[in-house]
Amino acid sequence: MKLSILPGQPLRGEVTLPGDKSLSHRAALFAAMARGENRAENFLVSGVTAAMLSALTALGVDWRLDGTTLTVQGKGLGGWQPPTGPLNCGNSATTLRLLAGALAAAGIPATLDGSPGLRRRPMDRIVEPLRQMGVAIEAAPGGSAPLVLAGRAAGSRLHALDYTLPVASAQVKTCLLLAALAADGPSTLVEPSLSRDHSERMLASQGAVIETFNASGGPAVRVTPLPLASPLGGHGGELAPLRMTIPGDFSAAAFLMVAALVAPGSEIWLRNIGLNPTRTGLLASLQEMGAEIQVLNPHLASGEPAGDLRVCHSRLHGATIQGARVVDMIDEFPAFAAAAAFAEGQTVVRDAAELRYKESDRIAALCAELRAEGVDVEEKPDGFTINGQGGVAGGAPVDPHGDHRLAMALAVLGLGAKRSLQVGGAEIIAESFPEFVATLTSLGARIAEAA
Ligand code: S3P
Repeated sequence: MKLSILPGQPLRGEVTLPGDKSLSHRAALFAAMARGENRAENFLVSGVTAAMLSALTALGVDWRLDGTTLTVQGKGLGGWQPPTGPLNCGNSATTLRLLAGALAAAGIPATLDGSPGLRRRPMDRIVEPLRQMGVAIEAAPGGSAPLVLAGRAAGSRLHALDYTLPVASAQVKTCLLLAALAADGPSTLVEPSLSRDHSERMLASQGAVIETFNASGGPAVRVTPLPLASPLGGHGGELAPLRMTIPGDFSAAAFLMVAALVAPGSEIWLRNIGLNPTRTGLLASLQEMGAEIQVLNPHLASGEPAGDLRVCHSRLHGATIQGARVVDMIDEFPAFAAAAAFAEGQTVVRDAAELRYKESDRIAALCAELRAEGVDVEEKPDGFTINGQGGVAGGAPVDPHGDHRLAMALAVLGLGAKRSLQVGGAEIIAESFPEFVATLTSLGARIAEAA
Protein backbone atom coordinates (compact mmCIF):
# COMPACT_ATOMS: atom_id res chain seq x y z
CA MET A 1 0.00 0.00 0.00
CA LYS A 2 1.14 3.51 -0.86
CA LEU A 3 0.19 6.72 0.96
CA SER A 4 0.20 10.05 -0.87
CA ILE A 5 0.65 12.81 1.66
CA LEU A 6 -0.70 16.19 0.59
CA PRO A 7 0.70 19.02 2.71
CA GLY A 8 -0.87 22.39 3.47
CA GLN A 9 -3.80 21.42 5.70
CA PRO A 10 -3.89 22.41 9.38
CA LEU A 11 -4.85 19.67 11.86
CA ARG A 12 -7.68 20.57 14.21
CA GLY A 13 -9.86 18.69 16.66
CA GLU A 14 -9.56 16.02 19.30
CA VAL A 15 -9.00 12.27 19.27
CA THR A 16 -8.50 9.30 21.56
CA LEU A 17 -5.96 6.69 20.57
CA PRO A 18 -5.68 2.89 20.69
CA GLY A 19 -4.23 1.36 23.83
CA ASP A 20 -0.53 1.37 24.55
CA LYS A 21 1.38 -1.39 22.75
CA SER A 22 3.71 -2.26 25.64
CA LEU A 23 0.84 -2.38 28.11
CA SER A 24 -1.34 -4.44 25.74
CA HIS A 25 1.38 -7.08 25.29
CA ARG A 26 1.90 -7.29 29.02
CA ALA A 27 -1.83 -7.34 29.81
CA ALA A 28 -2.40 -10.33 27.50
CA LEU A 29 0.62 -12.29 28.71
CA PHE A 30 0.39 -11.53 32.43
CA ALA A 31 -3.32 -12.33 32.33
CA ALA A 32 -2.50 -15.70 30.79
CA MET A 33 -0.09 -16.30 33.68
CA ALA A 34 -2.76 -15.49 36.26
CA ARG A 35 -5.54 -17.80 37.40
CA GLY A 36 -9.10 -16.63 36.83
CA GLU A 37 -10.87 -14.15 34.57
CA ASN A 38 -8.85 -11.12 33.48
CA ARG A 39 -10.12 -8.05 31.63
CA ALA A 40 -8.22 -5.31 29.78
CA GLU A 41 -10.18 -2.42 28.24
CA ASN A 42 -8.80 -0.37 25.31
CA PHE A 43 -6.51 -3.24 24.30
CA LEU A 44 -4.46 -2.49 21.16
CA VAL A 45 -5.82 -4.62 18.31
CA SER A 46 -2.97 -4.70 15.78
CA GLY A 47 -0.46 -6.92 14.00
CA VAL A 48 2.01 -7.22 16.87
CA THR A 49 -0.59 -7.93 19.56
CA ALA A 50 -2.25 -10.50 17.26
CA ALA A 51 1.07 -12.37 17.35
CA MET A 52 0.99 -12.44 21.16
CA LEU A 53 -2.64 -13.57 21.26
CA SER A 54 -2.14 -16.38 18.75
CA ALA A 55 0.89 -17.61 20.71
CA LEU A 56 -1.31 -17.72 23.83
CA THR A 57 -3.89 -19.77 21.90
CA ALA A 58 -1.14 -22.22 20.97
CA LEU A 59 -0.31 -22.53 24.68
CA GLY A 60 -3.90 -23.53 25.46
CA VAL A 61 -5.00 -20.17 26.90
CA ASP A 62 -8.60 -19.05 26.16
CA TRP A 63 -9.16 -15.38 25.39
CA ARG A 64 -11.83 -13.28 23.68
CA LEU A 65 -11.83 -9.85 22.09
CA ASP A 66 -15.07 -7.83 22.10
CA GLY A 67 -14.08 -4.71 20.19
CA THR A 68 -11.09 -3.57 22.20
CA THR A 69 -12.00 -5.39 25.43
CA LEU A 70 -9.78 -8.40 25.99
CA THR A 71 -10.96 -11.13 28.34
CA VAL A 72 -8.50 -13.89 29.23
CA GLN A 73 -9.33 -17.06 31.17
CA GLY A 74 -5.99 -17.45 32.93
CA LYS A 75 -4.98 -20.96 33.98
CA GLY A 76 -1.76 -20.01 35.69
CA LEU A 77 1.61 -21.02 34.26
CA GLY A 78 0.98 -24.57 35.46
CA GLY A 79 -1.98 -24.78 33.08
CA TRP A 80 -0.07 -23.90 29.91
CA GLN A 81 0.26 -26.70 27.36
CA PRO A 82 3.42 -27.33 25.33
CA PRO A 83 2.73 -25.94 21.83
CA THR A 84 2.62 -28.45 19.01
CA GLY A 85 4.63 -26.25 16.60
CA PRO A 86 6.87 -23.16 16.66
CA LEU A 87 5.26 -20.05 18.16
CA ASN A 88 5.23 -17.46 15.38
CA CYS A 89 5.93 -14.03 16.89
CA GLY A 90 5.64 -12.28 13.50
CA ASN A 91 7.47 -8.96 13.60
CA SER A 92 7.15 -8.57 17.35
CA ALA A 93 10.34 -8.65 19.42
CA THR A 94 8.25 -7.82 22.50
CA THR A 95 6.18 -10.98 21.95
CA LEU A 96 9.25 -13.14 21.50
CA ARG A 97 11.36 -11.77 24.35
CA LEU A 98 8.54 -11.61 26.90
CA LEU A 99 7.24 -15.06 25.98
CA ALA A 100 10.76 -16.49 26.35
CA GLY A 101 10.78 -15.39 29.99
CA ALA A 102 7.29 -16.70 30.69
CA LEU A 103 8.03 -20.04 29.01
CA ALA A 104 11.26 -20.32 30.99
CA ALA A 105 9.17 -19.89 34.14
CA ALA A 106 6.55 -22.38 32.92
CA GLY A 107 9.31 -24.90 32.14
CA ILE A 108 7.59 -26.27 29.04
CA PRO A 109 9.39 -27.01 25.76
CA ALA A 110 8.71 -24.48 22.98
CA THR A 111 10.27 -22.89 19.90
CA LEU A 112 9.97 -19.13 19.37
CA ASP A 113 10.31 -17.84 15.83
CA GLY A 114 9.14 -14.97 13.65
CA SER A 115 9.48 -13.01 10.42
CA PRO A 116 12.82 -12.59 8.59
CA GLY A 117 12.96 -9.11 10.18
CA LEU A 118 12.54 -10.55 13.67
CA ARG A 119 15.20 -13.18 12.96
CA ARG A 120 17.67 -10.31 12.45
CA ARG A 121 17.07 -8.86 15.94
CA PRO A 122 19.59 -9.70 18.71
CA MET A 123 18.39 -12.40 21.12
CA ASP A 124 21.70 -13.16 22.85
CA ARG A 125 20.72 -10.42 25.31
CA ILE A 126 18.06 -12.74 26.77
CA VAL A 127 19.70 -16.10 25.98
CA GLU A 128 22.84 -15.44 28.06
CA PRO A 129 21.12 -14.42 31.33
CA LEU A 130 18.41 -17.09 30.92
CA ARG A 131 21.18 -19.69 30.67
CA GLN A 132 22.69 -18.31 33.87
CA MET A 133 19.35 -19.10 35.48
CA GLY A 134 19.61 -22.70 34.30
CA VAL A 135 17.23 -22.40 31.34
CA ALA A 136 18.05 -24.89 28.58
CA ILE A 137 17.77 -22.55 25.57
CA GLU A 138 19.41 -22.55 22.14
CA ALA A 139 19.54 -19.73 19.60
CA ALA A 140 20.31 -19.79 15.89
CA PRO A 141 23.92 -18.96 14.92
CA GLY A 142 24.60 -15.30 15.68
CA GLY A 143 22.34 -15.38 18.75
CA SER A 144 19.05 -14.82 16.96
CA ALA A 145 15.63 -16.48 16.56
CA PRO A 146 14.48 -19.22 16.35
CA LEU A 147 14.99 -19.87 20.06
CA VAL A 148 14.43 -23.41 21.31
CA LEU A 149 13.56 -23.98 24.99
CA ALA A 150 13.89 -27.57 26.19
CA GLY A 151 11.67 -27.34 29.28
CA ARG A 152 12.59 -28.80 32.67
CA ALA A 153 11.49 -31.39 35.22
CA ALA A 154 8.22 -30.66 37.05
CA GLY A 155 8.74 -29.19 40.50
CA SER A 156 12.28 -27.96 39.75
CA ARG A 157 13.16 -24.26 40.00
CA LEU A 158 15.42 -21.91 38.09
CA HIS A 159 18.44 -20.30 39.76
CA ALA A 160 17.98 -16.83 41.19
CA LEU A 161 19.83 -14.20 39.20
CA ASP A 162 21.85 -11.09 40.09
CA TYR A 163 22.40 -9.39 36.78
CA THR A 164 23.37 -6.02 35.36
CA LEU A 165 21.87 -5.42 31.93
CA PRO A 166 24.56 -4.16 29.52
CA VAL A 167 21.95 -1.93 27.79
CA ALA A 168 18.76 -0.52 29.34
CA SER A 169 15.96 -2.65 27.86
CA ALA A 170 12.45 -3.21 29.16
CA GLN A 171 12.07 -6.32 27.02
CA VAL A 172 15.15 -7.94 28.53
CA LYS A 173 14.21 -6.76 32.03
CA THR A 174 10.68 -8.16 31.66
CA CYS A 175 11.87 -11.46 30.21
CA LEU A 176 14.13 -11.96 33.23
CA LEU A 177 11.53 -10.74 35.74
CA LEU A 178 9.07 -13.33 34.43
CA ALA A 179 11.64 -16.14 34.53
CA ALA A 180 12.63 -15.03 38.04
CA LEU A 181 9.08 -15.70 39.26
CA ALA A 182 10.03 -19.40 39.08
CA ALA A 183 13.50 -19.06 40.66
CA ASP A 184 14.76 -20.59 43.89
CA GLY A 185 15.24 -17.19 45.58
CA PRO A 186 14.93 -13.46 44.94
CA SER A 187 16.61 -12.04 41.80
CA THR A 188 17.98 -8.54 41.30
CA LEU A 189 18.30 -6.77 37.94
CA VAL A 190 20.24 -3.53 37.52
CA GLU A 191 19.97 -1.26 34.45
CA PRO A 192 22.33 1.51 33.29
CA SER A 193 19.27 3.77 33.27
CA LEU A 194 15.60 3.09 33.88
CA SER A 195 13.73 1.58 30.95
CA ARG A 196 9.91 1.59 30.87
CA ASP A 197 8.63 0.17 34.16
CA HIS A 198 5.20 -1.12 33.08
CA SER A 199 6.00 -4.71 34.05
CA GLU A 200 7.03 -3.74 37.56
CA ARG A 201 3.78 -1.82 38.05
CA MET A 202 1.54 -4.48 36.52
CA LEU A 203 3.12 -7.49 38.22
CA ALA A 204 2.94 -5.70 41.59
CA SER A 205 -0.77 -5.02 40.96
CA GLN A 206 -1.17 -8.79 40.46
CA GLY A 207 0.35 -9.54 43.84
CA ALA A 208 3.98 -10.24 42.87
CA VAL A 209 6.59 -8.96 45.34
CA ILE A 210 8.56 -6.36 43.37
CA GLU A 211 10.87 -3.80 44.98
CA THR A 212 12.56 -1.02 43.04
CA PHE A 213 15.55 0.91 44.39
CA ASN A 214 18.70 2.67 43.29
CA ALA A 215 21.74 0.38 43.33
CA SER A 216 25.30 1.68 42.90
CA GLY A 217 25.27 0.51 39.26
CA GLY A 218 21.91 2.14 38.44
CA PRO A 219 18.16 1.64 38.93
CA ALA A 220 17.40 -1.85 40.23
CA VAL A 221 14.43 -4.18 40.65
CA ARG A 222 14.25 -7.14 43.03
CA VAL A 223 11.65 -9.82 42.45
CA THR A 224 10.63 -12.56 44.88
CA PRO A 225 9.59 -15.82 43.22
CA LEU A 226 5.99 -16.98 43.39
CA PRO A 227 5.38 -19.96 45.66
CA LEU A 228 4.87 -23.29 43.89
CA ALA A 229 1.25 -23.93 42.97
CA SER A 230 1.50 -27.42 44.46
CA PRO A 231 -2.00 -28.87 44.10
CA LEU A 232 -2.00 -28.17 40.38
CA GLY A 233 1.49 -29.42 39.57
CA GLY A 234 3.53 -27.45 37.07
CA HIS A 235 6.24 -25.03 38.08
CA GLY A 236 4.98 -21.63 38.98
CA GLY A 237 2.66 -20.11 41.50
CA GLU A 238 0.00 -17.78 40.27
CA LEU A 239 -0.51 -14.12 39.74
CA ALA A 240 -3.82 -12.51 40.71
CA PRO A 241 -6.17 -11.70 37.81
CA LEU A 242 -5.68 -8.40 36.04
CA ARG A 243 -8.35 -5.72 35.64
CA MET A 244 -7.21 -2.65 33.80
CA THR A 245 -8.04 0.09 31.35
CA ILE A 246 -5.11 0.72 29.05
CA PRO A 247 -4.40 4.39 28.31
CA GLY A 248 -3.76 5.62 24.75
CA ASP A 249 -0.32 4.84 23.34
CA PHE A 250 2.13 7.71 23.84
CA SER A 251 4.27 6.24 21.04
CA ALA A 252 1.31 6.52 18.64
CA ALA A 253 0.50 9.99 19.99
CA ALA A 254 4.08 10.99 19.14
CA PHE A 255 3.27 10.99 15.40
CA LEU A 256 0.19 13.15 15.88
CA MET A 257 2.10 15.54 18.11
CA VAL A 258 4.79 16.00 15.47
CA ALA A 259 2.17 16.29 12.72
CA ALA A 260 0.49 19.16 14.58
CA LEU A 261 3.83 20.82 15.32
CA VAL A 262 4.89 20.87 11.66
CA ALA A 263 1.57 21.57 9.88
CA PRO A 264 0.94 25.35 10.08
CA GLY A 265 -2.31 26.43 11.76
CA SER A 266 -2.72 23.20 13.75
CA GLU A 267 -4.20 22.78 17.21
CA ILE A 268 -5.11 19.27 18.40
CA TRP A 269 -6.15 17.54 21.62
CA LEU A 270 -5.10 13.98 22.36
CA ARG A 271 -7.25 12.54 25.16
CA ASN A 272 -6.25 9.98 27.81
CA ILE A 273 -2.70 9.27 26.67
CA GLY A 274 -0.27 7.19 28.78
CA LEU A 275 2.27 9.53 30.37
CA ASN A 276 4.48 7.15 32.31
CA PRO A 277 7.66 9.21 32.89
CA THR A 278 9.82 6.37 31.50
CA ARG A 279 8.06 6.96 28.16
CA THR A 280 7.68 10.72 27.79
CA GLY A 281 11.21 11.82 26.85
CA LEU A 282 9.91 13.04 23.49
CA LEU A 283 7.54 15.46 25.19
CA ALA A 284 10.38 16.98 27.24
CA SER A 285 12.69 17.15 24.21
CA LEU A 286 10.09 18.85 22.00
CA GLN A 287 9.22 21.34 24.74
CA GLU A 288 12.93 22.17 25.07
CA MET A 289 12.91 22.87 21.32
CA GLY A 290 10.10 25.40 21.70
CA ALA A 291 7.07 23.18 21.08
CA GLU A 292 3.76 24.41 22.46
CA ILE A 293 2.47 21.25 24.13
CA GLN A 294 0.40 21.26 27.31
CA VAL A 295 -0.44 18.35 29.60
CA LEU A 296 -3.93 18.61 31.08
CA ASN A 297 -5.98 16.45 33.42
CA PRO A 298 -3.06 14.35 34.74
CA HIS A 299 -4.32 11.24 36.56
CA LEU A 300 -3.48 7.61 37.33
CA ALA A 301 -5.26 5.01 35.18
CA SER A 302 -4.87 1.44 36.50
CA GLY A 303 -1.54 2.36 38.09
CA GLU A 304 -0.21 4.18 35.03
CA PRO A 305 0.09 7.98 34.72
CA ALA A 306 -2.12 9.40 31.95
CA GLY A 307 -3.51 12.74 30.79
CA ASP A 308 -4.56 14.86 27.83
CA LEU A 309 -2.19 16.66 25.47
CA ARG A 310 -2.87 19.92 23.63
CA VAL A 311 -0.44 20.48 20.76
CA CYS A 312 -0.17 23.58 18.55
CA HIS A 313 1.91 24.31 15.49
CA SER A 314 5.22 25.75 16.74
CA ARG A 315 8.51 27.15 15.55
CA LEU A 316 11.19 24.74 16.76
CA HIS A 317 14.91 25.17 17.37
CA GLY A 318 17.62 22.49 17.57
CA ALA A 319 18.57 20.50 20.70
CA THR A 320 21.04 17.88 21.91
CA ILE A 321 19.60 14.52 22.99
CA GLN A 322 21.87 12.15 24.91
CA GLY A 323 22.28 9.95 28.02
CA ALA A 324 19.22 8.77 29.96
CA ARG A 325 16.85 10.87 27.79
CA VAL A 326 17.55 8.46 24.92
CA VAL A 327 16.00 5.58 26.90
CA ASP A 328 12.90 7.64 27.79
CA MET A 329 12.21 8.22 24.08
CA ILE A 330 13.73 5.07 22.58
CA ASP A 331 10.77 4.42 20.22
CA GLU A 332 10.28 8.08 19.33
CA PHE A 333 13.39 8.87 17.28
CA PRO A 334 11.64 8.48 13.92
CA ALA A 335 8.97 11.01 15.01
CA PHE A 336 11.60 13.16 16.69
CA ALA A 337 13.80 13.26 13.60
CA ALA A 338 10.81 14.40 11.53
CA ALA A 339 10.27 17.30 13.98
CA ALA A 340 13.99 18.15 14.08
CA ALA A 341 13.99 18.39 10.27
CA PHE A 342 11.63 21.40 10.62
CA ALA A 343 13.64 23.06 13.40
CA GLU A 344 16.02 25.95 12.90
CA GLY A 345 19.58 25.06 13.83
CA GLN A 346 21.41 21.91 14.74
CA THR A 347 19.90 18.87 16.48
CA VAL A 348 22.38 16.29 17.78
CA VAL A 349 21.40 12.76 18.86
CA ARG A 350 24.11 10.67 20.56
CA ASP A 351 24.34 7.62 22.89
CA ALA A 352 21.61 6.03 20.74
CA ALA A 353 23.43 3.10 19.04
CA GLU A 354 20.55 0.89 20.26
CA LEU A 355 18.44 2.40 17.46
CA ARG A 356 20.36 0.20 15.03
CA TYR A 357 18.66 -2.91 16.55
CA LYS A 358 15.02 -1.87 16.23
CA GLU A 359 12.53 -2.86 13.50
CA SER A 360 15.08 -1.39 11.09
CA ASP A 361 18.53 0.14 11.61
CA ARG A 362 16.77 3.39 12.49
CA ILE A 363 19.93 5.51 12.31
CA ALA A 364 20.83 4.44 8.77
CA ALA A 365 17.23 4.28 7.52
CA LEU A 366 16.21 7.67 8.92
CA CYS A 367 19.30 9.37 7.55
CA ALA A 368 18.77 7.89 4.08
CA GLU A 369 15.09 8.82 3.88
CA LEU A 370 15.44 12.31 5.35
CA ARG A 371 18.28 13.05 2.95
CA ALA A 372 16.00 12.05 0.04
CA GLU A 373 13.56 14.78 1.16
CA GLY A 374 16.27 17.43 1.14
CA VAL A 375 17.13 17.37 4.87
CA ASP A 376 20.78 18.06 5.79
CA VAL A 377 21.55 15.04 8.01
CA GLU A 378 24.80 13.34 9.04
CA GLU A 379 24.90 9.72 10.21
CA LYS A 380 27.04 8.92 13.30
CA PRO A 381 27.80 5.50 14.82
CA ASP A 382 25.57 6.26 17.82
CA GLY A 383 23.10 8.78 16.42
CA PHE A 384 22.76 11.56 13.87
CA THR A 385 23.02 15.30 13.42
CA ILE A 386 20.33 17.29 11.61
CA ASN A 387 21.14 20.79 10.41
CA GLY A 388 17.64 22.19 10.36
CA GLN A 389 16.66 24.88 7.86
CA GLY A 390 13.22 25.54 9.35
CA GLY A 391 11.42 23.57 6.60
CA VAL A 392 11.52 20.43 4.45
CA ALA A 393 11.40 20.30 0.64
CA GLY A 394 9.67 16.90 0.31
CA GLY A 395 8.63 15.59 -3.09
CA ALA A 396 10.61 12.33 -3.23
CA PRO A 397 9.06 8.87 -2.65
CA VAL A 398 10.15 7.28 0.63
CA ASP A 399 10.76 3.70 1.75
CA PRO A 400 10.00 2.83 5.40
CA HIS A 401 12.42 -0.16 5.38
CA GLY A 402 9.66 -2.46 6.71
CA ASP A 403 9.48 -0.37 9.91
CA HIS A 404 6.03 0.83 11.11
CA ARG A 405 7.43 3.80 12.98
CA LEU A 406 9.53 4.94 10.04
CA ALA A 407 6.46 4.81 7.79
CA MET A 408 4.43 6.99 10.19
CA ALA A 409 7.30 9.43 10.78
CA LEU A 410 7.79 9.94 7.05
CA ALA A 411 4.05 10.45 6.56
CA VAL A 412 3.92 13.23 9.17
CA LEU A 413 7.08 14.76 7.70
CA GLY A 414 5.09 15.00 4.48
CA LEU A 415 2.25 16.89 6.18
CA GLY A 416 4.59 19.82 6.80
CA ALA A 417 6.73 19.57 3.66
CA LYS A 418 6.62 21.97 0.71
CA ARG A 419 5.79 19.25 -1.84
CA SER A 420 3.71 16.09 -1.49
CA LEU A 421 5.49 12.81 -0.89
CA GLN A 422 4.60 9.15 -1.18
CA VAL A 423 5.22 6.51 1.47
CA GLY A 424 5.56 3.00 -0.03
CA GLY A 425 5.06 -0.23 1.97
CA ALA A 426 2.64 1.62 4.27
CA GLU A 427 0.71 -1.56 5.25
CA ILE A 428 3.41 -2.08 7.90
CA ILE A 429 1.73 0.72 9.91
CA ALA A 430 -0.99 -1.77 10.93
CA GLU A 431 1.58 -3.58 13.08
CA SER A 432 1.11 -0.97 15.81
CA PHE A 433 -1.43 1.73 14.75
CA PRO A 434 -4.01 0.47 12.22
CA GLU A 435 -6.11 3.66 12.67
CA PHE A 436 -3.19 5.99 11.83
CA VAL A 437 -4.51 7.30 8.51
CA ALA A 438 -8.14 7.50 9.67
CA THR A 439 -7.09 9.41 12.80
CA LEU A 440 -5.05 11.96 10.86
CA THR A 441 -7.79 12.31 8.27
CA SER A 442 -10.37 12.97 11.02
CA LEU A 443 -8.17 15.88 12.12
CA GLY A 444 -8.13 17.33 8.61
CA ALA A 445 -5.03 15.80 7.00
CA ARG A 446 -5.20 14.97 3.30
CA ILE A 447 -3.82 11.48 2.74
CA ALA A 448 -4.70 9.29 -0.25
CA GLU A 449 -4.25 5.52 -0.12
CA ALA A 450 -3.43 3.49 -3.23
CA ALA A 451 -2.78 -0.23 -3.65
C1 S3P B 1 9.36 -2.40 24.62
C2 S3P B 1 10.64 -2.05 24.92
C3 S3P B 1 11.54 -1.37 23.98
C4 S3P B 1 10.74 -0.74 22.84
C5 S3P B 1 9.71 -1.66 22.27
C6 S3P B 1 8.72 -2.08 23.34
C7 S3P B 1 8.57 -3.09 25.64
O1 S3P B 1 12.45 -2.30 23.44
O2 S3P B 1 11.63 -0.33 21.84
O3 S3P B 1 8.99 -1.02 21.23
O4 S3P B 1 7.33 -3.18 25.50
O5 S3P B 1 9.16 -3.58 26.62
P1 S3P B 1 13.86 -2.65 24.16
O6 S3P B 1 13.56 -3.33 25.42
O7 S3P B 1 14.55 -3.55 23.18
O8 S3P B 1 14.55 -1.33 24.33
